[in-house]
Amino acid sequence: MCGIIGITAKTDALSAIVSGLKALEYRGYDSAGVAFFGKNGLRIVKAVGRVSALEEKLGEETTTCGISHTRWATHGEVCEKNCHPHVSFGGACMLVHNGVIENYAELKKYLLEKGVTCSTDTDSEIIAHLYELLCDGDPVTTLGRVANALEGSYAIALLSALHKGEIFAVRRSSPLVIGRRDNASLLASDVTALPNAELYYLEEGRVARLWAEGVDVMGKRFHSNAIQSLSAPDKNGYDTFMLKEIYEQPQAIARTIADIPKKGRIKGEALLLGCGSSYHAGLACIPLVEKCTGRHAEALLASEFICSHALPANGQTAILLSQSGETADTLSACAEAKKRGYKTVGITNVETSSLARAVDENRFTKAGAEIAVATTKGFTTQIVALAGLFVKDEESLRALHSLPTLAEKVVRLSEKTAELVHIFLSAKCVFFIGRKSDYGVALEGALKFKEITYIPSIGLASGELKHGSISLIEKGSPVVVVCADGKLIAKTLLSVATVKARGGVTVAVTCFEEVATACDYALRLPALPADLSPAITVIPLQMLSYYVATALRRDVDKPRNLAKSVTVE
Ligand code: AGP
Ligand code: GLU
Repeated sequence: MCGIIGITAKTDALSAIVSGLKALEYRGYDSAGVAFFGKNGLRIVKAVGRVSALEEKLGEETTTCGISHTRWATHGEVCEKNCHPHVSFGGACMLVHNGVIENYAELKKYLLEKGVTCSTDTDSEIIAHLYELLCDGDPVTTLGRVANALEGSYAIALLSALHKGEIFAVRRSSPLVIGRRDNASLLASDVTALPNAELYYLEEGRVARLWAEGVDVMGKRFHSNAIQSLSAPDKNGYDTFMLKEIYEQPQAIARTIADIPKKGRIKGEALLLGCGSSYHAGLACIPLVEKCTGRHAEALLASEFICSHALPANGQTAILLSQSGETADTLSACAEAKKRGYKTVGITNVETSSLARAVDENRFTKAGAEIAVATTKGFTTQIVALAGLFVKDEESLRALHSLPTLAEKVVRLSEKTAELVHIFLSAKCVFFIGRKSDYGVALEGALKFKEITYIPSIGLASGELKHGSISLIEKGSPVVVVCADGKLIAKTLLSVATVKARGGVTVAVTCFEEVATACDYALRLPALPADLSPAITVIPLQMLSYYVATALRRDVDKPRNLAKSVTVE
């Protein structure tokens, strides 16, 4: 969600700034802008839509120092006026902001009393005015005082008109990473925009000053001795990152299995918390967790847990699932869980993320960088990492180790879903149904499908269909039926019959002949280990969504309105 990139260098930095913005496009955005020291002082250029539109507007401009932003609007419509950077009333500073200023109405009133009016509808603009109002001549101390007045989440990068060639930055609850690379200092919302740089993770509330030759954080010089970032991600010959990431799943699963420690299983009650697909991964694993611990387990949406009755933990472990490790709802749930006395364990894909730093104990998914907004290998590796926290008997461990080979087979098999696209193209609504762990997979299938095709879709526990949603089934309605559990064949056949009686077109994703023949279309899967099957059954659903979305010419990697890491609550 939103991307910030700033560079100050000895030579032209504008093209590197634009490349950085492009690298951050995957996070999701609706408009883009840049502020820089031009020949005649500070300049701002903005554009609604893609970074390429901004690039066109920039033409032959050059600069050695600038900040830029891809906006994911929270306050104020998507238009050029509201696009960042914002400038202060007297032109003392220009800044970009990621996050939400919760006390902005109050601050706006304060500014008005001082005779300063706002010209945009954003919460971010007030930060610039406040900076100019409080300015004491030193951007570091001023920005520190501004930050103290702000409530909410923010990553701010600022240019001061009087400090040519310098960038100032501060953050709280929103990510910002600083990098050093040959005679250039950089900052960005995430490391994807800082390939081959040495990195420094800016601590909350500390103000950084960047210039071409160095960086200091509150007077302390940062020497380039920190973590070295990886090279920029590329599509490796695939048309999209999503397709590449679908195909990478067997290796990603194998790496995650190899990383499971020999000891340290959770034995007691567990609460699994996450958002979106991460929540689905938790839900799909409840039967496995309950089987391994013999105790009750529950999956909750992180955003709901925060509002639930603050019951004490009672010895339970809270497991926080997040691919990015930067999801604001999940970070809040982690803080809340700690307050209630839970032991916290994080499952994230980014070892340097905020969640990884917040939890008591970490397990990592080894998916590698996930760039497509719609998660694929992030989800499947979460299932594996979760299983790794609980599975201990020989047989289950053997089953876990069979997953990479099964994933390899099923990725290939899933190519057949391309032949099913015609069933979905003109559907008003698509249904995904399943029971037990297949229910979590059905929810994930429906999410994947609507995210990238924009066709409404619903994921349902099969047994719930008759309690309401069945009113939506009409002649030709596609219903994807997931069944990987032999004990559920009879019940699944009943659901299939109920749907068919109303004209629905059924598509089975199943390991069982009976279910396959009962449905109108089927993708037959090999036998799968009980309770671990979600890591495999989801793959055909990912592939199906992908093929339908590409047939509809959707922007698969960057679906509209969505952000890769959702850094606001
Ligand atoms: C996945 O396809 C979605 N874009 C989304 O639901 C995502 O899973 C959710 O925002 C949670 O993200 P996280 O795993 O990075 O915390
Ligand atoms: N809240 C700010 C806005 O709506 C920043 C959004 C973002 O993080 O992109 O402009």
